[in-house]
Amino acid sequence: MNTKVTDRLGRALRDLRISVTDRCNFRCTYCMPRSVFGPGYEFLHRTDLLSFEEISRLARVFAGLGVQKIRLTGGEPLLRRDLVRLVEQLHTGVPGVELTLTTNGSLLARMAAGLRAAGLDRVTVSLDALEDDVFQRMNDAGFSVADVVAGIEAAVEAGFSPVKINAVIRRGVNEGAIPALAERFGGEAFVVRFIEYMDVGNTNGWKLDEVVSSGEMAARLEASVGGLTALEPNYKGEVARRYRTAAGGEIGIISSVTQPFCRDCNRARLSSDGRLFTCLFGTEGLDLRGPLRRGADDAELVELIRGTWSGRADRYSELRTAAGTQTRKVEMSAIGG
Ligand code: GTP
Ligand code: 5AD
Ligand code: SF4
Ligand code: SF4
Repeated sequence: MNTKVTDRLGRALRDLRISVTDRCNFRCTYCMPRSVFGPGYEFLHRTDLLSFEEISRLARVFAGLGVQKIRLTGGEPLLRRDLVRLVEQLHTGVPGVELTLTTNGSLLARMAAGLRAAGLDRVTVSLDALEDDVFQRMNDAGFSVADVVAGIEAAVEAGFSPVKINAVIRRGVNEGAIPALAERFGGEAFVVRFIEYMDVGNTNGWKLDEVVSSGEMAARLEASVGGLTALEPNYKGEVARRYRTAAGGEIGIISSVTQPFCRDCNRARLSSDGRLFTCLFGTEGLDLRGPLRRGADDAELVELIRGTWSGRADRYSELRTAAGTQTRKVEMSAIGG
């Protein structure tokens, strides 16, 4: 058993987000714009990706360092072949760790039951609008709202409870989704979370005036679903601020631009080619695939991870406004948000 590790700001390592592919079947304009991720874009090759065995081995090592939750991400994680088998391996190989997944929902209708049976604890589905024209403009790949709603319904049917819905709000594009999603998914089966549009990656041409602040989102929600009562965080470092609605539902607001939460940030991110990032806005990751494939033993992996985490001082969102023009950042699709 290894001991836990904290960084230079005293933050523990609790969450591990594992990207299982850099590919996605959507081309959300704020994440993988077609102008950059077009037909000529070179995605990772199969041999570049960590194998399921490599992922499971690293997950065990991370669990020994204090990780309590693993979230599978992409790109779109359900595009990774045999993902259900990875969930099974993690469920049996890394017991006691909560296993979650964030997906765009387009393939969930046919996979939800299998994922649940394999041991997935929770699922979060991204859905940015309930009107087809708005949603299609955002995903830019012809997917309709009904495709994703079918996935959400299948997740409920499979026993995931609650199912979380993530919506990124961009000014002038989908503010209308704030009341619409809050009403449509207001019941106990769901938690809807509204996310401030962030300057992740290098390709979305982010501008501050496109951000709808959490304060404005809360005001719009008050006006539509009625009084919001603030709830205590479920755990230290939770990214969403939670509210109970008048109708008894739960809503969250993720405010990483106007009220950053770096102080409690306990998330590490593993890219699908095995690099460890200690911030969503990181520039360089620590290569763990090289050592893995050279036959490093667990002690060596522990030391590499421990060294990186204990040297960590990241707080990009807190420094954002002071930072001005940023150096090149990792793409969101490489580390799954
Ligand atoms: P649970 O609380 O376990 O449900 O999940 P989560 O909120 O950690 O995961 P999810 O993938 O649903 O993340 C929600 C959104 O919060 C993501 O889309 C990101 O946009 C944002 N987010 C998550 N982690 C971070 C972080 O470390 N920094 C910043 N700036 N944003 C984050
Ligand atoms: N700003 C905020 N959230 C984003 N996501 C992707 N790109 C951005 C961005 N620029 C969200 C997705 C998904 C989660 C993993 O990250 O919509 O819900
Ligand atoms: Fe794909 Fe999610 Fe990025 Fe959209 S936000 S392009 S669904 S990875
Ligand atoms: Fe954590 Fe970096 Fe996000 Fe701050 S900006 S919360 S340090 S991932």
